[in-house]
Amino acid sequence: MKHLLSIEQLNAKEITHLLESAAHLKLQRGRDGKQLAGQTWAMIFTKSSTRTRVSFEVGIRELGGFPMFLSKNDIQLGRGEPIKDTARVLGRMVHGAIIRTYAQSDVEEFASFSGIPTINALTDDEHPCQILADLLTIQEKLGGWENRKVAFVGDGFSNMTRSWMWAAKRLGFELAVASPVSCQPPADFLTNLDAPNVSVTADPAEAVKDAHVINTDVWLSMGQEDQKEKEVEFAGFEVTAALLAKAAPGHIVLHCLPAYRGKEISEEVLELHANTIFQQAENRLHAQKAVLVAIARSH
Ligand code: CP
Ligand code: NVA
Repeated sequence: MKHLLSIEQLNAKEITHLLESAAHLKLQRGRDGKQLAGQTWAMIFTKSSTRTRVSFEVGIRELGGFPMFLSKNDIQLGRGEPIKDTARVLGRMVHGAIIRTYAQSDVEEFASFSGIPTINALTDDEHPCQILADLLTIQEKLGGWENRKVAFVGDGFSNMTRSWMWAAKRLGFELAVASPVSCQPPADFLTNLDAPNVSVTADPAEAVKDAHVINTDVWLSMGQEDQKEKEVEFAGFEVTAALLAKAAPGHIVLHCLPAYRGKEISEEVLELHANTIFQQAENRLHAQKAVLVAIARSH
């Protein structure tokens, strides 16, 4: 694997292999190989981050490499230097790049101009590292996704939902997305996805009915902070105990975090499922180490 740019660009075998490797790395944490020895990885972030930043910095160090965090305010990118120039400079100095930004095309342009392995650490289109951690958590908690129904309640066309839809397409599990009509995936996206196992509804109860995994995320993603008026459309989409009463027995709740209690999830549900949700957060570290190892191996 040279890059991780999206879930869309992975196949089922690659996903399964990354998850096996993540589980192994988790088990043998502290006894890591030093696959990134002598390597410096740039972490270019134009959006805030707690989990992604910390898990990559720790993971790179555990694999023997050196992470170099570059917020957009630290580098000329923030003053308008083009991505393709930044990419060609960094490509001659560092061994890999991890990018969190707005446009997916910026990450793809960086990958193509830099010539170095590039990892998408969240764009407006996808959050592949998060989905790998989520799948690892489902594997640990439920033994896998075969014959499982996954529900996603919230913004139906955010980076998280899009990555989930591609994961369902690649792995074949049932995914029911519940979202206000104004935030549902457009028809051309669904046509291109071509996944009969993915359904979209405006009724959260319908999506959650008999679901084994109930997943949610913020109603307003980073970059949408000035669209507060959109929040009214999400009335009835909070994941509450009453909504979960419709889910399958033994269901789990996932949230990529950060969470806004009283909006997309109730305090009660978050705390009841905190064990899973923070295991999911920890799994970012193990999943991303698997990605770094896969990239290092293919060089
Ligand atoms: N879930 C996630 O990506 O968290 P951060 O924004 O804190 O990195
Ligand atoms: N959809 C959210 C995910 C945060 C990890 C956002 O983009 O802000």
